[in-house]
Order: sequence, then structure tokens, then C-alpha cells
Amino acid sequence: MQLVHTIEDLRTALRPFNSPAFVPTMGNLHDGHLNLVRSAKPLGDVVVSSIFVNRLQFAPNEDFDSYPRTLQADCERLEQAGCDIVFAPLEKELYPLPQQFKVHPPGELADILEGHFRPGFFIGVSTVVMKLFHCVFSEAKGPRHALFGKKDYQQQLVIKRMVQQFAMPITVIAGETQRAPDGLALSSRNGYLSERERSEAIQLSLALRTLAREALSCGHALPEQLPGLESRAMHALASRGWQPDYLTVRRRADLLLPTAADATQPNHLVVLGAARLGNTRLIDNFEI
Ligand code: PAF
Repeated sequence: MQLVHTIEDLRTALRPFNSPAFVPTMGNLHDGHLNLVRSAKPLGDVVVSSIFVNRLQFAPNEDFDSYPRTLQADCERLEQAGCDIVFAPLEKELYPLPQQFKVHPPGELADILEGHFRPGFFIGVSTVVMKLFHCVFSEAKGPRHALFGKKDYQQQLVIKRMVQQFAMPITVIAGETQRAPDGLALSSRNGYLSERERSEAIQLSLALRTLAREALSCGHALPEQLPGLESRAMHALASRGWQPDYLTVRRRADLLLPTAADATQPNHLVVLGAARLGNTRLIDNFEI
């Protein structure tokens, strides 16, 4: 496996290949990332992963400075998973000047849910992903694949729409969320949890499962009953000491509220949630 830090070295390393399969990450890798790398293997003739903690997608009050940076351990795990090239640029390589051109995803998709609670987040994500795609795919001549985890459900939808609307010749694949044995979705931020918080953390996905069950039992009445179900789910978590941002049922395709017709097609729906436990903000979702 080759580790490169500059765009020029990345392009040189990629020149002999035609079909990169790319897994962008911010490092501190867990099985969710490694599973994407393993899934990438049969999709191209070279597997590339990037490790870059992208300042643009963090608000000033968020954890950019404390985000775990574990390059050496990440490289060992990537190599074992079959990665061929790791691109780990310094900030001044990817942003030599303040990034003035930015990708603004549509508000109907990007200003709701995560975008509502983390304003500007999807601008930062789309901008860096667009830039990484230019770095990784510029020399490619064959099929190009990029893999994202469904744990960041809204993110993979935003990226899919960006690729579609800019006619980028890239197939975006969403990998299933990997979970700990108790069901907690794997996340780099789980490392922030204290022992007590770690055993409580599963309650977010349990609350989402309950919400999904209740939503399904509403049938056509879901649009009228959903606000009540959602606020009950939020109160239940809050009574355990969480600070929920949202627990909601949405359409998988566009994250809009379900209509009565969607409600009778459970495979159109996804339940999503975000809540803070102590200082750690966790997100999770299930396709119903
Ligand atoms: O999901 C992540 O780790 C990041 O948002 C991504 C896609 C690598 C962009 O910085």
C-alpha cells in the first residue's frame, strides 16, 4: 500500500490505473469504513482511501480540534482491508488558499435534519468531496466508484444528488451501517463516550426502532399521527438524560415527510435520529 500526501503524488500513483474505487474518510477508522474498503475491492482496479479531517464541515463550536487523528493505525487497518493507496493531505495541500468556490447543495435536501442542526455542514462536505473526486478520478478512463456509509444517510443522498446534477461519471454506492454487538452504530465519535454513556448509547437506536414500529402501525394515518409519535420518542429519550435534536420518519428518496401513499409502502421509508448524550452527538437510522 502506498501513502501519499500531495495531489501530484496521488495522480502519479493513480496513472497506471483506469478504474479507481474510492472511500473518503476523516480517519479514526472502524469496521464501517473497512467494510467499505472491502466492498470497493471488486469494483475497480485500484482502491483509494482518503484521510482528511475537513475543517469546512465543522462549525466553530464543534470538535474539529479534538477529532481523533490516528494516521498510523488507520494505515495499518486500511492495508489489511485491501486498500492500495491512502491519500492523507495536509490542510495546506487541499486548501492552499481559503476555499472560496463552494458547492451549495439544495436546501430542501441539505437544510433539513443534519443541515438544520449543523448549518453549513453539507456545503463543507459537498465541497471537499467534489475536490477529492477531482483529485482521485481525474486520470481515470474506466468506471469510477465512490463508497459512503448509510450511517450518514443524508450525506450519501446529498452526494448522490451532487454527482447526478453535475453529470459526474461516478457511481456512488452506499454501504450498510456496521454495528457493535449491542446494536450501536459504529462511529468515530463513539470513542468520546464514557463507560456509562457507552452502555446508554444503544437507547437511540432502540428509540428509532420503536418509532419505526409505531409509524408502520399507523397506515394511511401516518402523516397526521407522525408529529405526535416523534415528540413522544423525543420525550422518552430526553427523560433518560439525552438532548435529542430530531427523531423522525422520512421518505428514503428525498427525506421529505411521508405522504399517506408512502405510509403504505414501508420500503419507501427511513427512520432517522440525532441526539446528544453528554458532550457527544450521535446519529443513527434504519431503513424501514
Ligand atoms: O463521512 C465522512 O467521514 C466525511 O463527511 C467525508 C465524506 C469524508 C467528507 O469529509
